[in-house]
Order: sequence, then C-alpha cells, then structure tokens
Amino acid sequence: MPRLPRKHLAPTSAQWSRRGFLKAGMLGASAALLPRLSLAASGDGQFELTAAMGKARLYGADGGLSDLWLYNDSLPGPEIRVRRGERVQVRFTNNLEEATSVHWHGIRIDNAMDGVAGLTQPAVQPGESFDYDFVVPDAGTFWYHAHTMSWNQVPRGLAGSLIVEDDDRHFPPERDLTLFLSDWRLDEDGRLELTSFGAMHDFAHAGRLGNWLTINGKSMPEIPLQKERWHRLRLINASPARILDISPERFDARVIALDGQSFETPRDVSGIIQLAPAQRMDLIVRPQKTGALPFEMMTGKPFTFATFQVAEAVEEDIPLSLPPPNPLPEPDLDDAMVLPLVMAGGAMGGMTSMMHDGTQMSPRSLMEAGMVWGFNGIAGMEGNPMFSAEKGKTIVLESRNDTAFPHAIHLHGHHFKVLARNGKALDRQDWRDTYTSEPEETVRIAFVADNPGKWLIHCHMLGHAASGMMTWFEVG
Ligand code: C2O
Ligand code: CU
Repeated sequence: MPRLPRKHLAPTSAQWSRRGFLKAGMLGASAALLPRLSLAASGDGQFELTAAMGKARLYGADGGLSDLWLYNDSLPGPEIRVRRGERVQVRFTNNLEEATSVHWHGIRIDNAMDGVAGLTQPAVQPGESFDYDFVVPDAGTFWYHAHTMSWNQVPRGLAGSLIVEDDDRHFPPERDLTLFLSDWRLDEDGRLELTSFGAMHDFAHAGRLGNWLTINGKSMPEIPLQKERWHRLRLINASPARILDISPERFDARVIALDGQSFETPRDVSGIIQLAPAQRMDLIVRPQKTGALPFEMMTGKPFTFATFQVAEAVEEDIPLSLPPPNPLPEPDLDDAMVLPLVMAGGAMGGMTSMMHDGTQMSPRSLMEAGMVWGFNGIAGMEGNPMFSAEKGKTIVLESRNDTAFPHAIHLHGHHFKVLARNGKALDRQDWRDTYTSEPEETVRIAFVADNPGKWLIHCHMLGHAASGMMTWFEVG
C-alpha cells in the first residue's frame, strides 16, 4: 500500500498525542462492545432505525457531553448483523430537525435503496419515515451513514456498522469484533466543536480533521481478547476526512479482507497500511500471551487509542477457517470503456477554472459558490451523468490526482479492482469500493457496470464531496 505524505497528517497528529499524554492515564476501563440488532431479535424481520438528537461523551469520563445526532440514541448507531443473501428491512424514521437519508455503504444494492437524496430517493423530511428493503449479496464488513448533507450529519454521529456474515460462521461472536473508528474535532472541554462545521478553509484543504479518535464511540476502550484463540477484527474508518495509518504487524495481526472483500489467503503487511475514510480492513489475530496489547495509530510514532486485554481462553480452540471471497463479476479488459477521472481543485495551488451549473467559472467565483473541487473540469453534480454504460459493460477509470491533497474515491453500487498505480500493474489487484489517490498519482480501476440505476462517484472526505468532488454515472 502507498504511504501518505507525512506533511498532511503532522499537525493534528501532534494534537492527538498532546491530548493523549495529558489524560491517557485516567481514561480507559470501559469494555467496548457494540449494541447489536439482528434479524432474529426483531419479531417481524424488520429493524427500526430512528435518527434524533442525543448526547454522548467523546473524551471519556473527564470530557463534557457533546451534542450529537444519533441512530437509536446510540454512538455509533446499532450494529446491524445479517447473513449473506438475507433480505434487510429497515423502517427508518427521521426525528431530526432537517431532512436526511441512509446510505448502505459498499452493499451492491438495488438502486432505489441506495439512500442518496435527490438521486435515488427524495430526502426523508423531519417526522417522516422511509422503508429500506434490500438484499445483501456479499458477506463482509460494511457500514451505513447519513447521505444528505453528509459533511454535516456524519461528523455529528449518524453512522453505524453493517456486518454481513458468511453462510458459515468462522468466528464465534465473542471473537468477531467490530472496531468502529471515528475522528472528532473536540474543544477544550472535550466536547464536539460546532462552530467550524462547514468551514470553507477545511473543505479546501484536507477536510474536517479532528483531534481525537473514538473506537465504538468510546475513548481509549479496553477490548477483551482470549489467549491462543483466533479473533477477527473488523476495522471501519467512519471519520469525515482522516486517513488512519495502521501497522497490523505491531500486534501480530494479518489482513484478510479490504472493503468487505475477503482475500484467498491472509496477508502479512509489513509497515503501514492506510485506512482512508469509508474504507474497511478485516484482520485476524491470535494473541500469544496474556496482558495488554496496544491498538495504535501510527502518527509519526505509534499512539495507543485502545488496549486489547488478553485473558486466558474461556472458549474452545477452533482451527482457523476463513470466509471465501465473494463472487464478483470479473472485468473484461479487452472490451472496456476507458474513461479519465481527473481530480482538480483545492488549496495549495490546485484551483483552476471549472464548469459549475453549466457555466465556466473562475476560481474566485467557484469559491463564492462554495465549490473548490471537481472531476474532469466540472465542480459538483450536473444534470447529465459523467457517463452512461449499458448493463454488463466493463468500465476502466484512469484517475489522476492533480491536487495537493490525497483523496478517497468511492463508487456506489459496485466494487472495482485496483489494477495499477502510476502506470505500474499491481501484484495484488484488490477489490474495493473506495480507493485512495496521492497527489500526482494515477490509479487505474476496473469494474463491470452490472447494477442498473444512477450511482455516485465522490470523494469520501465529506467536505470535499460537498464542495464539488462528486459526480454520477448511469447504468442502463
Ligand atoms: Cu459512504 Cu456516497 O458514501
Ligand atoms: Cu477528497
């Protein structure tokens, strides 16, 4: 995996570390188990999901109560666990004071259920409900989050995990753990900082970077593991803009899946692997001794954000067995539609004139319209799709990052193969639904456009998407 240039992370990483050293000793001690919903638990096979205002402490017992927007009054939202091929029915109710909608990130979903207000459904108005009803074709680690004014709603708490279990159970529930990672910008009292929401300065730079990380909504939690037993850790980066650097070998973990898609065999990663906003990474770990095992982010030096507490095993040992890869349609590279996806805009010299709302605009007037990023010389959504594909056609996107910042580009409704970076074919062409791109980097991806409907392509740094780095395509 490529590494992020240090300069983009350094300032706020330092903040992470300072805060941490101030109070780290006084925190911890809360086991971080997620509230769970399961189909079995609901009488009629339906989930109820309600968005409303709520409160939680993001900085441990010493921090103030933050004003948040929550699903089912829970931070993160309740974990939804289903089985591959199952039908998921969610009655969603909006008790917020503004419109919202729910997107099921990474699910190759029926277009009408994709949750993109204005493209696949009308926004759900305050006091109203919407019934989401879809089938989950792939096993893996996914998540759900607000997809109306995402830049405002997700960093206030509207997100949760969506786990699709394989046909067979490979890990018992106690050893199949979700780590839902959220970067927050906190004020001096440890409360969510509200005045800078929507700040153009953040949008034009790396996005709304925070200064503290919660795991499953907790500050520096302790997570129980069992000695000499296999565990699966499902990491989800729900941060609005922060790319997390992780070094799994530091806690003897190996990677078994990315963005929900399992590998054929576990992979050892030496050094740092990036987890960009919206990306997921599944790990396996088998602790060899009891005691504390730190879970760190690599912020120049390792910084502990959670501690695994390894205790003597209380369950029988089960030999390692891994879920098989999902059957995804293989791109036909000999008969592909090849298209450019050029990222432009942003501070530090990236701004150019671009089309917006059908007119060519100067950087200054784009700025005034709140548009600072674009794809292929167009800032923001247009009435026409970036491209239309007949169903089953292979699409190759040749992306190039002409900005001074990394981006995390997400395609709705499909998973794609990352074929090459900077013109060099990759040894491992992983399946993903979100790929990173460094400044000046080219990335070639391919997928079969087999899911009919209107689908977004956008940067998952949510401020970037809100200020222009968003387009759509249509599969007919
Ligand atoms: Cu995770 Cu368009 O979103
Ligand atoms: Cu971006």
